[in-house]
Amino acid sequence: MAMSITKSYANGSSKAKGGDTRTDLYDFYSTIDKCDSNSQIQLREMVLSFLLMVIRNVVGFVHSSTQYFYTSWWQLHQLESFSPTSDFNTNNAESESHDYEDSQMILEAIREDLREILPPSCVLESESLKPAQKTLLCGDSTDLVEHVDSFIYDEDDLDIACSQGTLSRHYCTTCGSKAVKEIELISHSFSANEVKYICKCLLSNCKGKILVDIGSRTGAVLYGVALFSPLKRCIGVEMNGDFCKISQSMVDKYDLSEKISIVHDDIINCPQLLAEADVVVMNNVFDFYSDKDSQRKLWRFCLDEIKKKSGRLLITYPEVSTALAGLDMLYDTSFLRKLDLSDQVERYEKSLKTQNDDDLDAINMYIVK
Ligand SMILES: C[S@@+](CC[C@H](N)C(=O)[O-])C[C@H]1O[C@@H](n2cnc3c(N)ncnc32)[C@H](O)[C@@H]1O
Repeated sequence: MAMSITKSYANGSSKAKGGDTRTDLYDFYSTIDKCDSNSQIQLREMVLSFLLMVIRNVVGFVHSSTQYFYTSWWQLHQLESFSPTSDFNTNNAESESHDYEDSQMILEAIREDLREILPPSCVLESESLKPAQKTLLCGDSTDLVEHVDSFIYDEDDLDIACSQGTLSRHYCTTCGSKAVKEIELISHSFSANEVKYICKCLLSNCKGKILVDIGSRTGAVLYGVALFSPLKRCIGVEMNGDFCKISQSMVDKYDLSEKISIVHDDIINCPQLLAEADVVVMNNVFDFYSDKDSQRKLWRFCLDEIKKKSGRLLITYPEVSTALAGLDMLYDTSFLRKLDLSDQVERYEKSLKTQNDDDLDAINMYIVK
C-alpha cells in the first residue's frame, strides 16, 4: 500500500496538477525513498496517520457545522413560519394509530370509565384544594365555588345533574328569598372538545414531536394527544399518586402505552422531562394546589426550563401574564411570542356539527423565540 501511494504521488501527472503542496510531498517521498526500508516504513506510517487525522478532523468539522447550521435554520424556520395548522378536518384523525371514529369511541369509553371511578366532583380525598386566586374568578372571591371536571362531565351532563338536583348553578343569598347568585363552576380539566381542538387543530403540524402535560390529572390531554394528534409521544407529570394510578389504568386498558407515559412526581423534580419537550401544556396547573410562594417558585422553574429551547410551543390557560399577575410575580416573558389563534378557533367551530359552549378563545399558545 505504502509503495503504491508513493508511486501515485511520484507520477508526473499528479505532480504537475498538484501545485506547491504536492511538489513538497513529492520531494518528501523522494527523500524517504532514499532511506533504509525500516525507516521508510515508519516514516510512511507516520505520514499516513497524520493525513488520516487531518481528514478525520476536517470531516468532523464539516459534519458539526452542517448540523449547527441546519438546527439554527430549522429553529428560525419554525419561528417565522409557524402556523398551528394549515389543514385540519374534524372527521379525519391526525393520529396515525387510530382513525377518527375509533378515537372518538375510545375517548368516550375512557370518559365513561372515569365517571364510574371518580366521585361526582372528580376531586379526590387525597387532594387538599386551596382557594383560587381572585384573577381566575369572575366575581367576588367570597362567591361559592363548585368543583367540576369538564372532561368527564360536559355542559349537557352538568345541565342533567342540575335538573336532577345533584348539582346547583345558583345559591340563595338570603335563605328563602329568590335573590340567588350564580355559583362559580371551576373545571380542573380541559373539556373533551377543548382537548380535540388542541390536538387536531393547534398541534396538527407537530408530527413526531413530544408533549409534556404539567399536572396531567385524569389524563384528558394525554388521551387526546394519543388519539387525535400526529405527535410521537406525550408525558404527563402529576404529583397526585391516585390520579397517576387512575390514568395509568386507562392507558393500560386502552392500549395507549406506546404513546403515553405517566410520571408520578412534582414537576420541579423533572427538568430532564421538560428538556425533552417540544410542546408543554399548563392548564391552570398550580392554582388551587400550592400556596402563592410555592406557585411563584414553580412558575419560575417552568419558565426558566421552557425558554431553553427555541421553537418550543407552550399551551396555557389562562394567559401566562394573567397567571403571573395573580401571583404579583415579575418575570421577563419577552422570550415568548403569543400566536394569534382567532382563525383556528373560527375554523374549528365552523367545522363542528353541534353547538358547543366551550370558550376556545381562552386557550393560549406561545412559541419560544
Ligand atoms: C387543573 S389540573 C390540569 C389537568 C390537565 N392538565 C388538563 O388540562 O386537563 C392541575 C393538575 O396539576 C397537578 N399539579 C399541581 N401542582 C403540580 C406540581 N407541582 N407537579 C405536578 N403536578 C402538579 C394537580 O394535582 C392537578 O391534578
